[in-house]
Parts: sequence; C-alpha cells; structure tokens
Amino acid sequence: MPEPLPPLTGLEALKREAAVRAVTLVHSGMRVGLGTGSTAKYAIEEIGRRLAAGELTGVVGVATSEASDALARQVGIPVEALDPRPLDLAIDGADEIDPDLNLIKGLGGALLREKLTEVQARRFVIIADHTKVVLRLGEKAPLPIEIARFGFLSTIERLRTLNLGGRLRQPGAQPYVTDNGNYIFDAQLPSSGDVLALERTLKGTLGVIETGFFLGMAERAFVATPQGVQEQVRGA
Ligand code: A5P
Repeated sequence: MPEPLPPLTGLEALKREAAVRAVTLVHSGMRVGLGTGSTAKYAIEEIGRRLAAGELTGVVGVATSEASDALARQVGIPVEALDPRPLDLAIDGADEIDPDLNLIKGLGGALLREKLTEVQARRFVIIADHTKVVLRLGEKAPLPIEIARFGFLSTIERLRTLNLGGRLRQPGAQPYVTDNGNYIFDAQLPSSGDVLALERTLKGTLGVIETGFFLGMAERAFVATPQGVQEQVRGA
C-alpha cells in the first residue's frame, strides 16, 4: 500500500489537490515536463510517490529549474535534459490564469526554462489554487520579463518607453539572478490592452530574453477551490 499523504490545510491543501489530479494524466513510459514553484512541487512529489509505489514505471522528467531538477532526483524521478523530442505532458503552476487559459508565469523566476520546455509538450496542464484565476492578465500579478544583465539599465529604459511600470527584481542587496544568469524586470501591465501585441513588442525589444506571458499554450487547468477541483479546458 502506498503511504498516505501527510495532512495539509488551506491553500497548500488546495495546491496539492490540483497537483494530484493532474498527475492522474501521467502514464508509464511518459516523458514529462516538471514545472517550478510551490504547486508544481506537489506534482513532482506525487509522480515520485507513484513511481515508488509501483503505480508508474519508466517515467522520465525534464525539469524547468535547478530546484525542480534537484527535487525530482530526490523523489526518484530520472531526469533528462531538454532535447528536440516532444514531451508527452508538462505540468506546472501559474501566477495568473485568464478565462482563455492564457497565463502569467515566472514569479518563481523560471519562466525561460518553463517556456522552452512547455512549448514542446503535447499537453501542457496547469495546476493552481483558485486565487490564481483572473479576468485579465496583470490584474493581480506583475509580468516577469527576463532581461540580459549586460546593459540592463538601458533595457529597463526601453521597457519604460513602452509605458510599463515596475521594477527590477531585487529581494536583497543584489538583483535576483535566474538559473540562466539573467535579471528579471517585474512589469506592471496597463489596465487594458492587447497582450498578444505586447508580447510581440517585448520579444522585439533589445535586451529582453523572454516574457512570462504563456499565451495559447495550456490545454487545460486544474483549479482547486474549497468546493473541489475544477477542470477547465481551453476552447471548451
Ligand atoms: C515559476 O517561475 C513560476 O512560473 C511558477 O510556476 C508560478 O509562479 C507558480 O508558482 P506557485 O505555484 O509557487 O504559485
């Protein structure tokens, strides 16, 4: 018998409910993109638990951060580097989810590796608690934008000319540095506007490496609420 999961309360319990539900989509032999963050952590643990219990075999993970790579190895998931082969599935959290399952991601700093990995997944599934659901991207969360360290002040000036408020992510004396050695600018989005157009503009802005917009990528979301887990399918 697999070990019972330790009890959790509040949002942590909801995050794990969503994660456990998404992991029912993982089947033996799959290559799975492993997300990053406090919700994705539960999915990685659940895949590890199911492998240890013999409920799954031959699952290989592709991690979206150094932290998720370490956790996956710790719970017994073999980890491979990203290569051009498609992934069967990717499971990750999000910072905001709009009604079309467009997302903001990257408050955990892993947006570049997440996007590189998740764009290659045949199925990209989001797991979240209900606080992540918004009507408009940017409603609650800033948009993380990964920028090159070299000339970052010039890049930030370019971002400001696009009418983006916000600030360089700097939790202490030094700026936050991503797994890729870059900085992050957390942009405040205007209260209206075309996010696809903004994404294109940002991708054409010198010094910008990647944005936390994940538009048209997620196939479905498992959103845990106090009333249970709601499954939302893009385009349904
Ligand atoms: C990591 O860079 C992020 O994209 C996370 O996936 C996202 O911030 C969700 O994280 P939490 O599950 O911790 O809220």
